[in-house]
Amino acid sequence: MVAKKMNPEKKVYGTYSNRDFNKPIPEFAFQEEGMAARAAYEMIHEELKLDGTPELNLATFVTTYMEPEAKKLYMENAHKNFIDSFEYPQIKKEETRIVNILSRLFNAPESSNFAGTSTIGSSESIMLALLAHKWNWKSKMQAQKKDISKPNIVFGADTHVVWDKFARYFDVEPRVIPIDSTTMVVNPEKLVENVDENTIAVGAVLGTTFTGAFNDVKKINSLLEKLKSEKGLDVPIHVDAASAGFITPFIEPDLEWDFRLSHVKSINVSGHKFGLVYPGIGWLLFKDGSDLPDDLVFYVNYLGNDMPTYTLNFSKSAANIAPQYYNIIRLGKSGYRNIADNMMSNARYLADRIAEIPDMEVVSRADHIPVVTFKQKEKCKYSLFDLSAAVRSFGWIVPAYSLPHNAQNTVLMRVVVRESFSRDLADLFLENLKEAMNNLSGSKIKGSGISSRKGHAVS
Ligand SMILES: Cc1ncc(COP(=O)(O)O)c(C=O)c1O
Repeated sequence: MVAKKMNPEKKVYGTYSNRDFNKPIPEFAFQEEGMAARAAYEMIHEELKLDGTPELNLATFVTTYMEPEAKKLYMENAHKNFIDSFEYPQIKKEETRIVNILSRLFNAPESSNFAGTSTIGSSESIMLALLAHKWNWKSKMQAQKKDISKPNIVFGADTHVVWDKFARYFDVEPRVIPIDSTTMVVNPEKLVENVDENTIAVGAVLGTTFTGAFNDVKKINSLLEKLKSEKGLDVPIHVDAASAGFITPFIEPDLEWDFRLSHVKSINVSGHKFGLVYPGIGWLLFKDGSDLPDDLVFYVNYLGNDMPTYTLNFSKSAANIAPQYYNIIRLGKSGYRNIADNMMSNARYLADRIAEIPDMEVVSRADHIPVVTFKQKEKCKYSLFDLSAAVRSFGWIVPAYSLPHNAQNTVLMRVVVRESFSRDLADLFLENLKEAMNNLSGSKIKGSGISSRKGHAVS
């Protein structure tokens, strides 16, 4: 959110900090004098305690738990600037290991020269991947002496808002294909029908933000293969596996969505979602380093040696890299699989109990990732936005939002079942959900809901 101008006269009042510093401070202006460390700590600590409880936040895909050892590694590396690999070569080495491990997990062929980078999250990964595809398209068109003024990118309305952001920020025409109102994902034929020689890439999502459903990447790939053989158009696929990338390889290893497919040239995954690391860490992987144009890699020598960088930001903390590597070696494939199996079985338990509630219809029952969505069977006295606000009074954060174009009249509630969501919590949530529904049908509690902007589910 963009912060707005606020009144400089407004004050912040402490509570326990008053024992050491008994004065309010300006909320929106730099105060002249400081205060004792303990007072400053208390002032901030008490205020932030009012945030929601992460364990009760059923809206987020993002990790809220790490083991003590992972936390220790996080703190031990938080003060290192990751970009400075001349000073901190060891942490850079761990990044290289992880890029290799993930490329192999996503079945990059050993014959290819795969490459990748850590990022701040999937959004940065997606922007960097699509920028590379834009550059490759531009070079291809220039070599054929063709017009380069009208690049486009084709993706479904079921993608995350970052796809629209990329198109706007990097001046590419977004061809956003409406979703199918039954499957709630984009239809592969409709996607590929919109491809032409100005298409820089086709987007596919493995685990949409809206329902957790998968795009049929294999089908999209075969349609693009056909297009290539019939019309000579060779268009890459970028797979947004922000959520599923740390789940599907462990629980559905035979599902073909990754570098096994000929047109899949780049993949992103969020380390801070089911990679089980605190935010913000994401990964971007190229099937072959040659898909990352040299023009986009900048070399700087002001931190020591000549370092190649392909990032939107320059400095960032090295804190998350070590916990990511920790999780990989600590859990192994079987550990990630166990955690995923547990989350999936809790999600399906929750979905089955919600299906028993007369007013509710389950829309997605954790088919591939532990996401459950549900809607009202018919119009009730209250909306799901009201229900979202009502469960908040029990501490639960559960978003209600409308689906994208073609199903925009459908409002859903979504629960992301993370590792912290036990059967006990599921039962407690169900109890509170039913109580909130009873209260709403008999009372006038109103709420505007905590949905994000229209047509985009919060992440
Ligand atoms: C499918 C999908 N893509 C991209 C993103 C953006 O990821 P990040 O928050 O890591 O930038 C999300 C976030 O929820 C997502 O669900």
